[in-house]
Amino acid sequence: MLNSPNTAPEQGPRHVAIIMDGNGRWAQARGRPRLFGHHAGARRVREVVEACPKLGVKYLTVFAFSTENWKRTQAEVAGLMSLFRRYITKETRTLKENGIRVRFIGDRVRLDSKLTALMDTLEEETKDNDLVHLTVALNYGGRDEVARATKRLARDVAEGRLRAEDVDEETLPKYLDTHVLPDPDLVIRTSGEARISNFLLWQSAYAEYEFIDTLWPDFTAAELERLCRSYGSRDRRFGAVSA
Ligand code: FPP
Repeated sequence: MLNSPNTAPEQGPRHVAIIMDGNGRWAQARGRPRLFGHHAGARRVREVVEACPKLGVKYLTVFAFSTENWKRTQAEVAGLMSLFRRYITKETRTLKENGIRVRFIGDRVRLDSKLTALMDTLEEETKDNDLVHLTVALNYGGRDEVARATKRLARDVAEGRLRAEDVDEETLPKYLDTHVLPDPDLVIRTSGEARISNFLLWQSAYAEYEFIDTLWPDFTAAELERLCRSYGSRDRRFGAVSA
């Protein structure tokens, strides 16, 4: 079943999700503006995506911009949006040629139309790829996602496509932005903060978490490999008792 967790941990995580935190502090430590850190962080995404096939990571989901990030200064928000546009424009061909299928999750309504057009094109251009499934969370919030899903579900009930008594744990995920993805097995947050900050709330119910001190622009493929190995040595019971 697509949404069920990875039940063979010795194989390593199949779906890794990352809260890429610490760009601002990384830049400040170098006496540079925060956007300098975001650009360095964007370069890290490529290294991490490239490391995935060797590690058996088929799905990688990264938190690029949260529904709360609009509260940052107008200059930082504009800089990030421009970075996303440039990143997509620059990377589309490489992603396509290297077998990466890209999807975006989050609410697109508040994003500008130039950016959403680029997002649509990238999704379309890479839709036949299957080596690694990269999902970028952009204007994403877990609660917002559940609220939007519930709205659609309620509409289906109101219009007779779904019976309220048939709604169960299998129903809601079909309405989430992530409906075609398996649940994450491993969620990593960089930069020393031990919070999940509204990321994949429903989907991470049984995920393993790793909170590491490394600031995102310093994160390497070697570190991902270490975390994947350490995941493989854990005993995931999903509420049951070990055999
Ligand atoms: C958190 O660091 C990072 C962000 C809000 C933006 C993440 C964006 C990227 C890594 C670049 C683009 C990604 C893609 C997929 C193109 P922070 O600013 O909160 O750092 P701080 O906690 O040190 O202030």
